[in-house]
Amino acid sequence: MSTVDLSAKIPNNVGLKDDKRLMRALESWQPKFLDWWRETGPTDFNADQIYLRTAIGVGKGGWAHFDYVKMPEYRWGIFLADPVEHRKIHFGDHLGEAAWNEVPGEQRNRLRRLIVTQGDTEPASVEQQRLLGHTAPSIYDLRSLFQVNVEEGRHLWAMVYLLHTYFGADGREEAEALLQRRSGNADHPRILEAFNRPIETWVDFFCFTTFTDRDGKYQLASLAESGFDPLARTTQFMLTEEAYHMQTGENGVGRIIHRTGTLMKEGKDPRKEGALPLEIIQKYVNYWSSGSYDLFGGEDSTNAAEAFAAGLKGRYREGDGIYKDPKALNASYRLAVPEGGHMVEREIPLRRAMNALLLEAYAADCRRIVDRWNRDLKALGVDAQITLPSTRFHRYQGVYANQPFTPSGELIAREEWQKRKDEWLPSDADRKYVASLMKPVYELGKIANWISPPHQGVNDKPWDWEYVKFH
Ligand SMILES: [Fe+2]
Ligand SMILES: [Fe+2]
Repeated sequence: MSTVDLSAKIPNNVGLKDDKRLMRALESWQPKFLDWWRETGPTDFNADQIYLRTAIGVGKGGWAHFDYVKMPEYRWGIFLADPVEHRKIHFGDHLGEAAWNEVPGEQRNRLRRLIVTQGDTEPASVEQQRLLGHTAPSIYDLRSLFQVNVEEGRHLWAMVYLLHTYFGADGREEAEALLQRRSGNADHPRILEAFNRPIETWVDFFCFTTFTDRDGKYQLASLAESGFDPLARTTQFMLTEEAYHMQTGENGVGRIIHRTGTLMKEGKDPRKEGALPLEIIQKYVNYWSSGSYDLFGGEDSTNAAEAFAAGLKGRYREGDGIYKDPKALNASYRLAVPEGGHMVEREIPLRRAMNALLLEAYAADCRRIVDRWNRDLKALGVDAQITLPSTRFHRYQGVYANQPFTPSGELIAREEWQKRKDEWLPSDADRKYVASLMKPVYELGKIANWISPPHQGVNDKPWDWEYVKFH
């Protein structure tokens, strides 16, 4: 078991106090991180007391502590899951070799890029969400937003720890750059597209936490298989926190749907009641799920093949022994691709399809979430359903990029797509309508009219408890 040092300037279980150089380097990065938080985080709420969970260790069950805290005083720490003794690499060309505790020289650049790309998404989402605190539908939701925000901040710390510890001067440079890029900035954008899209409303936020944080889960899960042990252990612990982010999304969208369904059941028009028609919810689901599909990268990717071969990035749950061939050799993957207005089947080596496999696992997970929403609609006695769009729909990356597919995955003429796209994606009018509903409700026990209250609160408190004490 690792020793947890909670009294240190940077709480950690990585023995920082025994590595003075590293400690000094991280302690000099810390004020820059706080400057970044004060400049681009939920700044207008820095003086309020928020009831937040803070990671204080990695033991199962008792890893978190809840209390009121002002966000800039949150104790962002560095926590890695405990090491597994004699851990072996369990996939790729190095199958059976001992896991690495140092960066293998020939994989240095690739590994650094993986860590930087993951690290970049963490502060990006905080930037994207920075104004949402002004329009939360309830105090409960306001707290959830801030919980997600501070934990994304901690995830940035996790990646910066790896950069500082294992990548020398270029790692330190990358750690600085992570604080300099800005979501949506024309000159210094964040690396991935979905993290440059503005999250303007709470409908966007709940869809983002459902679909984009869930992409995060799959990326982290594939890195948690890594032969580079510190990366595996860091991402493994991040997944613990990530679960709450996805829950926030799934429950958030679910509560919107529940509210809409309840009104429909009563024979009311959701729009006249100031709630969200199902068609609009569907368009937001289409927009954020398809944007998240892009985060998996190309379905046919030599880059992904190399990361797998090198033992850096495994398949989803690779370590559970669910794949017959841990080397993924001598097998192929069938991919339908558009060619000259038709779909043709192509066969590619399995290793090149690693992104496609991860996307498949992700889409199956998303489908389970959508099914849960639909079961609720059915229970309410509403006929209509939400559907998850095909992974071909509205793509900008991979083999389906910029091709006119319908949400059900059918290739159509470009003009038809143009004509119909407002049926499938939020139009300006939809966005305006949704924005018009976004009014803060900060009275205890009250909640906005477009969303149902949650079934339960946080840490055994009721949902209408005072999770935020305004200064
Ligand atoms: Fe994260
Ligand atoms: Fe997250």
